Order: sequence, then C-alpha cells, then structure tokens
Amino acid sequence: MTGLINKRIILGISGGIAAYKSAFLARLLVKAGAKVNVVMTQGAQAFIQPLTFQALTGHPVHTHLLNPEAEAGMGHIELARWAELIIIAPTTADLMARLATGHAGDLLTTLCLASKAPVHLAPAMNQAMWQHPATQRNAQLLTELGYTLIPPAEGEQACGDVGAGRLPEPETLFSWIDSFFKSSFFKNSFVESNQPEPAKKLGEGLRITITAGPTQEPLDPVRYLSNHSSGKMGYALAAAAVEQGATVKLISGPVNLAIPDGVHCTHITTAAQMLEACEKLRSTTDVFIACAAVADYRAEAVADQKMKKQANQDELILKLVKNPDILATMAQATVDTHKPRPFCVGFAAETQQVEDYAQDKLVRKNLDAIVANDVSDSSIGFGSDENRVILFTRAGECIHRDPLPQSSKGVLGQQLLFKLLVFYKEQQKS
Ligand code: PMT
Repeated sequence: MTGLINKRIILGISGGIAAYKSAFLARLLVKAGAKVNVVMTQGAQAFIQPLTFQALTGHPVHTHLLNPEAEAGMGHIELARWAELIIIAPTTADLMARLATGHAGDLLTTLCLASKAPVHLAPAMNQAMWQHPATQRNAQLLTELGYTLIPPAEGEQACGDVGAGRLPEPETLFSWIDSFFKSSFFKNSFVESNQPEPAKKLGEGLRITITAGPTQEPLDPVRYLSNHSSGKMGYALAAAAVEQGATVKLISGPVNLAIPDGVHCTHITTAAQMLEACEKLRSTTDVFIACAAVADYRAEAVADQKMKKQANQDELILKLVKNPDILATMAQATVDTHKPRPFCVGFAAETQQVEDYAQDKLVRKNLDAIVANDVSDSSIGFGSDENRVILFTRAGECIHRDPLPQSSKGVLGQQLLFKLLVFYKEQQKS
C-alpha cells in the first residue's frame, strides 16, 4: 500500500527526450491516489503534448506564468502553496542552471522559488553534459540550496552514448516519491493548509557518528603504515548530515580538510584510538557511518627510537598484528533493549569482485547498509574529488542494490545520506 492517497504533487516537466517517461509516472501517481498538477516548460511541449497529461491527471496542464485564464483558476502562487511536493522529471541541464541562479522567467522556475514544498529534481541529459563541471557545480549548488537531486540512471542513452544521465524508470521515480511521503519525517509537515510549514529535515533529532580519513599505525617515532584516504568522502557525508539537521560527530584520521560547519570532530591517529572514540559514542549514536580507511594491521611492537638502517641487512621483516574491527564492534547486537545498537553503515573499498565482497561484508559485519566503492578506478575512491558507488541496504534476508552514478563527493554525500536516512526511518517503523 502506498502513502500517496490525496498527496498534492506538482509534476514539472522540462524539455528532454525523456519527457515521455513522465506520462507513465503521472499515471502511476494518479493510480496511487495522488492529486497531480502538471507544469510544463515550453521545451517540454516540443517533446510531448500537454493534452496527454491533461487526460492522465484529469486537470488542465499549466504552461504559462501569466495566463489570465489560468490565473483566474489556480494562480501561480496558489499552485505554489497547494503543493506538498514538487518533482521535476526530467530536469534539463539548462533548468538546473536556471534554478541554481534563482531565475524566475517561467512558471516552473517561479513555482520553485514561491513554494515552501520540497523540490526534488531528476536530472536527465547526455552523459557528457551531466559530467561537465558546470553541471556538477550546479548540482552541488542546488543541493546546498535545499533541492534534492535524484541520481540519474546509467546505461545507453537516446543519443547513442553510454553513461550516467538517463532519467530513472517511472517505477523508480514512483518509489522515490512514495518513500519520501512514507518516511515519518514528512508526517504532520504539510497538513491540509494553504500555508504549509516547511518540511522537517530528515536528520532532525538524530545523532550521527561518522568516521573518515585514514589511520596511521606507527612503526617508530618517524614512520607509519597508512593509506591514501583524503577524508573527502567522510567529510562530505558529515556536511550533508548537518544540512539534514542531525547532530553530527566526526571521528577523523589525519587529513588536510576543514571541519564542516556544525560538526564536532575528534581527531585520532591510530585504529585503536578510533575504536576508543567510537565506543564512547556508541550508546548516544543513532546512525553510525564508517567511511574511514582503517589500517587492517599494525606493528606488533613500535620501536622507541628511529629504526636505523643496518649496513649488513638488506631485508627488514616487520611483524604485524590485526587491528580491531571498529565497524563490526559497533554493529554487534546488544542485549540491553534500552541501548540498542546503532543503525550501522559500512563502506567497502575493493579493487575486484566489488559487489560480492561488499555484500559479504554487509552480512558478516551485521550491517544495515554498505557502500561499495570500486577503488581500482583512480577517478573515484581514494583521494579523488568524485566518486561512484553502489549502495546495498539489508532488511532481514533481503538485500536491495542501488547504484549511484559518478558525481562530486559533495553531491554523492548528500544523495547517499538522503537514501540512508529514508531507509533508516523505514526500518525504525517496521
Ligand atoms: O577518503 P577519500 O579519499 O575521500 O576516499 C574515500 C574512501 C575510498 C576511503 C571511502 O569511500 C571508502 O571506501 N572507505 C572504506 C575504506 C575501507 O577501509 O574499506 P574496507 O573494505 O577495508 O573496510 C570495510 C569497512 O570496515 C569500512 O567501513 C571500514 O571503515 C571498516 N573497518 C575496516 C577495518 C577496521 N579495522 N575497522 C573498520 O571499522
């Protein structure tokens, strides 16, 4: 059963070949009991007729900002107030740019400025256009402005290119909208009223702990074992969690990044210190996200003084011992029902069989979700500004796979966090 009965949705459509998919989406929404008003840009009407949507939704389609006839019915401000959710699918690169700069030159952009309803954008465009730094910058800006971006799907495009930029299938968009309304954060926010309150943020009232960066395991006073983690992914998640209204604690290995505003950070160096810091927060953490690249091993004995190079010794054998697994420790089941274990999310940095290893860790470490990161590709993963991941969520025996296309770590962090919190809230209810 969906939670869409009588929900008031504006379906915005801008001018892209994927506009036809929105007809199916409109049909699914109406079938589920939602009240749908369609707003089309001029470009959209070059791809699909307003009459199609009028027939599907039972309402006239809105196409002009200052149309006396339309204003006599439901004017643009009234329409902006009426909406509980605005979803724009497809959102073109041009519309993203106009929204990012606050333009209000047509009905759709005006509604986005005038409405207090959450606005979700489903970008759809050629893969090179999606990857272009200008589009990625606009995506980042839009998320900072409070828009929610629905990650585009990957695959073959209408133009023949292959990559990220396809509009997700209507069923995927429908489930996105359905989970948005089902998630409890939205409840009571938009009661039947002409002056809706702004939606509560997803993370309000939640305590989120995130680990980030590498650990350094000393060999002697001047040398250590470590890895290439820059902390960018973990810090992006922390910033996204603050934007969603959560209380955020970051436990960070040594990195060269500024602490995001509103985040409380504990700096650590070794895995043992990271474990200690995490354990202290365990009973006051609702959601734990382990993004840090923790060294699996440390030196059995750390030399007090700098180890000297021996003239007669061509080899040096180090004995390493296993570090504790921080994430698995945090995810252990507790018997104390007053202090349940946090909802635990891991990352899996893999260079081969990425999906298999990630799912194995998801189950073996008793996690709720895991983010599979293919670090064999240097454009994503360790140190890079961008990332591309697959999110696996687990409910009982059931594992759900959700690929997120390549984008900046800032945008990906926001998308990941949104999905994780929606899933967390669904799990809390069940
Ligand atoms: O920091 P960036 O440069 O932005 O790069 C981001 C990243 C590649 C580091 C990040 O996206 C990522 O994949 N982080 C996980 C790295 C890792 O150590 O993966 P793993 O597969 O070895 O570990 C699995 C999980 O167990 C991870 O959540 C890790 O934090 C956790 N772990 C591992 C070992 C250990 N002793 N304790 C742990 O908690």
